[in-house]
Amino acid sequence: MKTPITTAWRVAIVLAVFLMLVTAIVVTLFVLHFQSNKKNDGYLIGVGRADCTGPVSEVPFMGYGNPDQNGAGLISRQYCRTFIVAEPEDWKKRMVYVTAEIGMMSQRVRLEVVKQLKHRYGDLYRHDNVILSGTHTHSGPGGYFQYTIFLITGKGLIQPSLNAIVNGILESIDMAHQNMRKGRIFINKGLVDHTQINRSPFSYLRNPESEKARYASNTDKEMVVLKMVAENGEDMGLFSWFAIHPVSMNKSNCLVSSDNVGYAAYLLEQEKNEGYLTGKGPYVAALGSSNLGDVSANTNGPHCINTGESCENFNNYCPEGGSQMCIATGPGKDMLESTQIIGRNIYLKAKELSTKASEEINGPIRTAHQWVNMANVTVQFNATHSGRTCIPALGYSFAAGTIDGPGVMNFTQGTTEGDPFWDAVRNGLLAEPSNETQECHRPKPILLPTGELSKPYPWHPHEIDVQIGTIGSMAIVALPGEFTTMAGRRVREAIKSEFETQGKPGMNILLSGLCNVYTHYITTYEEYQAQRYEGASTIFGPHTLSAYIQSFRGLAKAIAKDTIQDLPQYPEPAVFNISLNFLPPIVDTRPIGRKFGDVLQDAQSKYRVGEVVDVHFVGANPRNSAGNMNNFTFLTVERLDNISRSWQVLYDDASWDTRFIWQKHNWGVSTSKTEWHIPNHTEPGTYRIQYFGHSKELLSSVHAFNGSSSVFEVSH
Ligand SMILES: *[C@@H]1O[C@H](CO)[C@@H](O)[C@H](O)[C@H]1NC(C)=O
Ligand SMILES: *[C@@H]1O[C@H](CO)[C@@H](O)[C@H](O)[C@H]1NC(C)=O
Ligand SMILES: *[C@@H]1O[C@H](CO)[C@@H](O)[C@H](O)[C@H]1NC(C)=O
Ligand SMILES: *[C@@H]1O[C@H](CO)[C@@H](O)[C@H](O)[C@H]1NC(C)=O
Ligand SMILES: *[C@@H]1O[C@H](CO)[C@@H](O)[C@H](O)[C@H]1NC(C)=O
Ligand SMILES: *[C@@H]1O[C@H](CO)[C@@H](O)[C@H](O)[C@H]1NC(C)=O
Ligand SMILES: *[C@@H]1O[C@H](CO)[C@@H](O)[C@H](O)[C@H]1NC(C)=O
Ligand SMILES: *[C@@H]1O[C@H](CO)[C@@H](O)[C@H](O)[C@H]1NC(C)=O
Ligand SMILES: *[C@@H]1O[C@H](CO)[C@@H](O)[C@H](O)[C@H]1NC(C)=O
Ligand SMILES: *[C@@H]1O[C@H](CO)[C@@H](O)[C@H](O)[C@H]1NC(C)=O
Repeated sequence: MKTPITTAWRVAIVLAVFLMLVTAIVVTLFVLHFQSNKKNDGYLIGVGRADCTGPVSEVPFMGYGNPDQNGAGLISRQYCRTFIVAEPEDWKKRMVYVTAEIGMMSQRVRLEVVKQLKHRYGDLYRHDNVILSGTHTHSGPGGYFQYTIFLITGKGLIQPSLNAIVNGILESIDMAHQNMRKGRIFINKGLVDHTQINRSPFSYLRNPESEKARYASNTDKEMVVLKMVAENGEDMGLFSWFAIHPVSMNKSNCLVSSDNVGYAAYLLEQEKNEGYLTGKGPYVAALGSSNLGDVSANTNGPHCINTGESCENFNNYCPEGGSQMCIATGPGKDMLESTQIIGRNIYLKAKELSTKASEEINGPIRTAHQWVNMANVTVQFNATHSGRTCIPALGYSFAAGTIDGPGVMNFTQGTTEGDPFWDAVRNGLLAEPSNETQECHRPKPILLPTGELSKPYPWHPHEIDVQIGTIGSMAIVALPGEFTTMAGRRVREAIKSEFETQGKPGMNILLSGLCNVYTHYITTYEEYQAQRYEGASTIFGPHTLSAYIQSFRGLAKAIAKDTIQDLPQYPEPAVFNISLNFLPPIVDTRPIGRKFGDVLQDAQSKYRVGEVVDVHFVGANPRNSAGNMNNFTFLTVERLDNISRSWQVLYDDASWDTRFIWQKHNWGVSTSKTEWHIPNHTEPGTYRIQYFGHSKELLSSVHAFNGSSSVFEVSH
């Protein structure tokens, strides 16, 4: 009698235990699944943007090295744009990436920025997790460098220029830091056609046949876009990388401009930040530089400007007039139209890639940084052969410039023999390079032995930043200069394969150009032999690229193996105490009986869209206004609101529809010209233009003033 009951109970208990076990397994699996999902739950993301426009008058532009190209107003402002990404569960694991619309990052800027960040945030932001990059516009003020070669071309160390960049970068980082919230990052890639040419195809051709055969083009056409989306679905911004020289504006331009990539960023931001003034609003779009060393935007190619015939020859030489006549232009009818055509191409592709981006980036954030004495790196090629880098030197062809902006005198690209005349000039003015240095740089004939010159300050840096930051499957490589197309490809492949070897296959390698410190160009060993401008400007000699690849591999390995803390650390480069500033002192004067801001040429009473409003004022040196940066503008275009009867600011000097042009006359007298190119979509109504400035008269302090045009009507 007892037995069946007991058996039934036993069956029931076994069943119950079984069910409990199944439930436990299901719950555990569910929890595990949930947790693993949680690990991929995006990042903390912040984006920021700030004005980093330097003094817009009298400071030489950084890029073409043209002593006559001094600022005299602006077309667009220069912006610094930042993203910060942190792991949601360990927010101390983070990375800062900044791209500034300047010629290139300088070591002086980097040292100042990181010092200030330490002051503000303790050890949250450091040399290893802050990447600073420049877009490479050739139409921004220089003077923010500490090495002598750049002090010569920049008229010294211009403190207001340095401050504008350092403060702009810090402000954009602060903004991104304060905006941080949960979000996701998506990556997308695509080709941009009809937008670049290789400006040294004869160097590129020197690369091994087997290597060239693997690529469809002699430039990298791929654009990479990172799209940042907040948890609530809001588009926060995009950061992208594309290899192109922002040299649509040529060496005769004296108006500050962010050039073609700046125009692309402007179009993207204008569209998303509707109703905001240029450079304002939450959406941040940045177009960063990449391996652009031999990539020109002047797609019509080089032609002799005196005869019109092609000068696409090895030396870019014109039969009449030599190299100085050989200039590349296009695709527009003038440089501004070219800027806008190239910029629009880039904008359209970035927008398309951002819209379609669906591959999400997941995984940990790791950052590694080192200073390497690039003047003394031994590269082991194989068991029997090694090579060494050299102390810095610039070759003859450096002085020849490029088809984007030719140099001076009778220098030509592709020079492999020195010239007795220029050697004698060099020896007399500077120094004769040592035999060891000459030997090391061969076949580069040395024009400027910068590594052997230290007066009044070292001429070139020796301690160079190498840096990689990874966000999941994506690695941002901070290139400290202008890598050519093929040099960049070799870096990308080497780092990818190093990660693969260390057990991290499938990494996306993003090359970020002009980062941290400027070291001119980096060509391949084979391109170096041609000694065109890029090879002559590869300052650490023929094995420079191999040395970088070796260093970057070391960083990739350390990141993959989690041994970053074991990387050898070298001392931080010194900050020099520089008091060289060759800008003229400012003394503003005004015509008798006039005030600063008085109208000299007024607006007409009526305009149609498509016309240009051109108003001139009694001016003062715009340099007085540098440092008065808090949303300062030299001009506003204002519309009278019918209902409130008050003036609404529609545009300021940052808009690409306005220009501010400063003309200096004798005895401190100057004229400030304001232009508004009335866009087709302008609403009919009543408008005026205002001009703002600061004057500094003899024995007087700086005074703010303003002036206004008469009101005018705009109709269709
Ligand atoms: C720059 O472009 C302008 C056209 O916008 C042209 O008139 C000028 O000759 C060019 N200058 C140089 C040096 O290329
Ligand atoms: C270059 O580095 C080697 C070690 O790699 C060292 O022995 C040598 O002294 C260094 N030379 C200079 C000039 O710093
Ligand atoms: C070692 O490298 C050198 C220079 O790249 C090359 O000429 C040589 O053939 C290589 N030797 C071997 C055994 O691979
Ligand atoms: C360059 O000009 C200098 C001075 O006029 C002259 O002595 C020299 O031979 C020229 N060099 C070349 C390569 O034409
Ligand atoms: C280079 O070597 C040559 C001969 O070996 C010698 O005459 C010359 O003085 C050396 N130059 C320098 C700068 O050391
Ligand atoms: C920097 O140089 C100036 C002038 O040469 C000098 O007065 C000043 O004391 C120096 N400052 C430092 C920190 O060395
Ligand atoms: C500049 O203007 C923006 C609003 O357009 C404001 O948020 C910001 O605080 C201003 N910056 C300064 C330094 O005044
Ligand atoms: C504003 O007033 C002007 C003239 O008084 C008129 O032509 C225009 O249509 C008005 N615009 C709006 C938006 O009301
Ligand atoms: C503005 O309109 C004119 C006339 O319709 C046209 O020719 C021009 O291309 C337009 N400008 C722009 C920038 O769309
Ligand atoms: C323009 O100048 C006048 C007189 O100096 C001053 O009262 C006014 O505030 C200024 N306007 C602006 C917008 O700065």
